Amino acid sequence: MALTKQRANEIVAAMRDVTIVVLGDVMLDEFVWGDVTRISPEAPVPVVDIRRESVHLGGAANVLSNLIALGAKACVVGVVGNDAAGNRLRTSVREASPLQAEEHLVIDESRPSTVKTRIIAHSQLVVRADRELRTPVNGHTEERIIGTLKEAIKNADAFVVSDYDKGVVTPRILKEILPLAYERVPVLIDPKIRNLPSYRPATLVTPNHHEALRMTNTEEDSDGGLHHAARLLRQTLSCDAVLITRGDRGMILLEGDGEPVYVETAAREVYDVTGAGDTVIATLAAALASGSSMLEAANLANHAAGIVVGKVGTATASAEELIASFQ
Ligand SMILES: Nc1ncnc2c1ncn2[C@@H]1O[C@H](COP(=O)(O)OP(=O)(O)OP(=O)(O)O)[C@@H](O)[C@H]1O
Ligand SMILES: [Mg+2]
Repeated sequence: MALTKQRANEIVAAMRDVTIVVLGDVMLDEFVWGDVTRISPEAPVPVVDIRRESVHLGGAANVLSNLIALGAKACVVGVVGNDAAGNRLRTSVREASPLQAEEHLVIDESRPSTVKTRIIAHSQLVVRADRELRTPVNGHTEERIIGTLKEAIKNADAFVVSDYDKGVVTPRILKEILPLAYERVPVLIDPKIRNLPSYRPATLVTPNHHEALRMTNTEEDSDGGLHHAARLLRQTLSCDAVLITRGDRGMILLEGDGEPVYVETAAREVYDVTGAGDTVIATLAAALASGSSMLEAANLANHAAGIVVGKVGTATASAEELIASFQ
């Protein structure tokens, strides 16, 4: 059952009036672009002459970018270190979103900000260097996050957990916040295996197919295997619905005790699939907060992901692009 352009238009227009709160691991994606003309005399490695550098919001901060691009109001709650990347992140998210307040990104002196640096020469990735600490945040930081979230969710129309397993999403935070959020608004979770038992209560959980198989000890990456994984996940978490994303094979949505439904990919050209998962959860959250059904939200998310995989670099889909993608 396809979504009509008129209905897509209606839902996307309503996104302007919703507020989404995101909890998760914020990251900075740093890109260094250059050329290689020689090999280093020190070791057999290429020397990259830097031509250009750029930074993008990554992880949970990319979910924020995607929400803003769709026209929603949003803020992201997370942790940064007391370092240059942390300052950069705090400035960038505040520039991206008027709703973002100073206290939403907690500064933890004992951690570095998460940064992924990619060095690219002649359009090819030469190396990626990561700076991160993946241990869970300490009790004091947990308390500050919980306090900030309790305030933030009072004004939310949906709550998103964007867990990249970098230590911000802890069982204790989930235990305190999910029941409060679920009582009021749709709760959407982009999960990682470590916190699986703690993602409850939730409205919608959105693993990719690799994650869904591992979380349920399912072997087969087939329709049957993924139906089984979706059912098992829903049982384990008692969540309302599970959406498994399958890269170029689209998505599978399981709602309640119903039959799994397929959502075929809407992508025409594929250049860069980085961040497609962030676009999916952002669009789902904005759509559900705007009163869409689960299946309508999945259709919109699939269209939005189809747009971003056709762009290079961590990208977003705008409300206009999303509407235009419906015939
Ligand atoms: N190669 C592709 N061709 C077409 N569509 C794609 C492709 N890769 C991703 N998509 C679209 O993006 C959605 C999410 O992608 P995917 O399943 O790779 O999520 P993910 O692994 O969580 O991504 P991320 O790397 O951002 O975490 C898919 O359901 C599909 O709509
Ligand atoms: Mg993902």
